[in-house]
Amino acid sequence: MIADEGPLDWDTSAAADAYRDRDMRLAEELIFPAVLERLGGGSGADRLALDVGCGTGAVAARLAGTGQWAVQALDPSADMLDIARTDRPHPRVSYRLFDGRTLDWLADDSVDAAVCCLVYCTDPDDGRLAALTAEIRRVLRPGAPYLLADLNPEATGVAFSTLRRGEPDTVYTDGDSVATLLRLRDGTTMTGATCYRSLDRYRSFLTEAGFPSPEVELPTLAHDGPTDEAPAEARTAPYMILTTYA
Ligand SMILES: C[S@@+](CC[C@H](N)C(=O)[O-])C[C@H]1O[C@@H](n2cnc3c(N)ncnc32)[C@H](O)[C@@H]1O
Repeated sequence: MIADEGPLDWDTSAAADAYRDRDMRLAEELIFPAVLERLGGGSGADRLALDVGCGTGAVAARLAGTGQWAVQALDPSADMLDIARTDRPHPRVSYRLFDGRTLDWLADDSVDAAVCCLVYCTDPDDGRLAALTAEIRRVLRPGAPYLLADLNPEATGVAFSTLRRGEPDTVYTDGDSVATLLRLRDGTTMTGATCYRSLDRYRSFLTEAGFPSPEVELPTLAHDGPTDEAPAEARTAPYMILTTYA
């Protein structure tokens, strides 16, 4: 069990291998469909979407699979990109290594949509994320959507079916490193370090980069039975989805 060895750095081949085997059910229900819906339809090969911090390619492949977007899928981890290229090749996805900060091969106002899922929480460097957010703002054409999905900062310590971030009854503040347990498909777990930031800090990244303050969604799982039998993810949102426009 990888969790016993302490938090993994995300930018390692061990983290990439473990992340490949994560249990994606909650993200598949609560993040990915909502992100595709908020992006709206592209129309043909000319519409370009960025998947920033694509990891093993789950979001990029779904976006390209709609047939409506050409996707540039970017990540600073060569190990994550190797897995993405192997597991999720797609003729409309181009995977690209980048520095996590700069989009200098893209012209101003040249991109039709950008998504960034579960990335800010894995990068403790505020300066890099501020620069990256400003770059995303620069390359998006006016009115284009930016979808930023991440762990819900109000859900630390909650034992969801596929993840738990931090300890119950512990107050975290901006910049704290929080051990975050992810369940893998075989029932074992991995633990990665994530960086805690409040919702206000996320808003600041966006507004300081020139985006309007985002709409905030906190999706929970539908549950029909008695409330006291509801799983944690039916009562508390594991993730948040921020939507803003260039
Ligand atoms: C938890 S994974 C999420 C991957 C994918 N977006 C998903 O939802 O499955 C986080 C990814 O963010 C990448 N990452 C970390 N810092 C980044 C940065 N500054 N810019 C872009 N990607 C970054 C990591 O290399 C890793 O692949």
